[in-house]
Amino acid sequence: MKEKISKLNKIVETFSANSIEDIEVLRIKYLSKNGEISLLFDDFRSVAAEQKREIGQLLNTLRQNATDKINALRESFTSKGGAVEFEDFTRSAEPVELGARHPLSIVRNEIIDIFSRIGFTIASGPEIEDDWHVFTALNFPSEHPARDMQDTFFIEKSPDVLLRTHTSSVQVRVMTSQKPPIRVLCPGRVYRNEAISYRAHCFFHQVEGLYIDKNVSFADLKQALLYFAKEMFGEETKIRLRPSYFPFTEPSAEMDISCNLCGGEGCPFCKHTGWVEILGCGMVDPNVLETCGIDSKIYSGYAFGMGIERITNLKFQIKDLRLFSENDVRFLKQFV
Ligand code: PHE
Repeated sequence: MKEKISKLNKIVETFSANSIEDIEVLRIKYLSKNGEISLLFDDFRSVAAEQKREIGQLLNTLRQNATDKINALRESFTSKGGAVEFEDFTRSAEPVELGARHPLSIVRNEIIDIFSRIGFTIASGPEIEDDWHVFTALNFPSEHPARDMQDTFFIEKSPDVLLRTHTSSVQVRVMTSQKPPIRVLCPGRVYRNEAISYRAHCFFHQVEGLYIDKNVSFADLKQALLYFAKEMFGEETKIRLRPSYFPFTEPSAEMDISCNLCGGEGCPFCKHTGWVEILGCGMVDPNVLETCGIDSKIYSGYAFGMGIERITNLKFQIKDLRLFSENDVRFLKQFV
């Protein structure tokens, strides 16, 4: 018996296999119910009582060695790519849950799409700006309230460095670096020192547009904006321009569209006026053109600017601005 055990131990040490099937053959030959090692356990019954303890231990060790060896062989196959034989390449992949685009991105892309169809291209610039690009070049008098700490985030150590309050700063960068004709759209994030509530945030997003060429008139501006309103809110949409004031445009206007909820009849959303305000616009002030190195006797231009949040609120009836930056997937998932 002892001899058999030591012979088998030697064989176990030489176990080797070229495939998973070889391993299975070894397992069946030695460890299955009628395998050579298992049969030794049957013989064990006839071992003399005084030898049982010793032989029993030897047998158990042999079986353990064989099992370990077979497991090790198996493992070497699975980690070496032997398991490839067992992989099912036809199995479909784990489903990857698709994310949804942020509603502000959806609307920004739509605005860009609409204006690109009438020749606008995109320009971008830094969010951390200097006073000249955000205010001075845009004709803001030095005592203008927008320069006040209440509206603008300044860097304490260097008051000339600030977070842009509008993307008109990008228009300045374009006017000082390109020659007319200029027809650009400036989308981006802007910052204002506001208390956060359902209708105000310390940052939001804008798309501003600028068109400069010979003979650009207010009629061109109105036509472009009417086209935009109809594309964005539907063919039946009406627009209305009200006189307004911006330091960098003259004349200036604010544009309302007919309320797309009640169709202009009057509802709580439009405060029963039938109109909702969506953007500011005007003819670029000749002072601004000159400051940026464009001859205002030859060229004229229009500009407009809108908040993407505002347009998104109108399109999707979102009542709380804070939802846009809270990253709540239950909210974000709705806009596919
Ligand atoms: N820059 C203005 C704002 O932030 C919007 C605007 C742009 C108005 C261009 C007129 C012309 O409110």
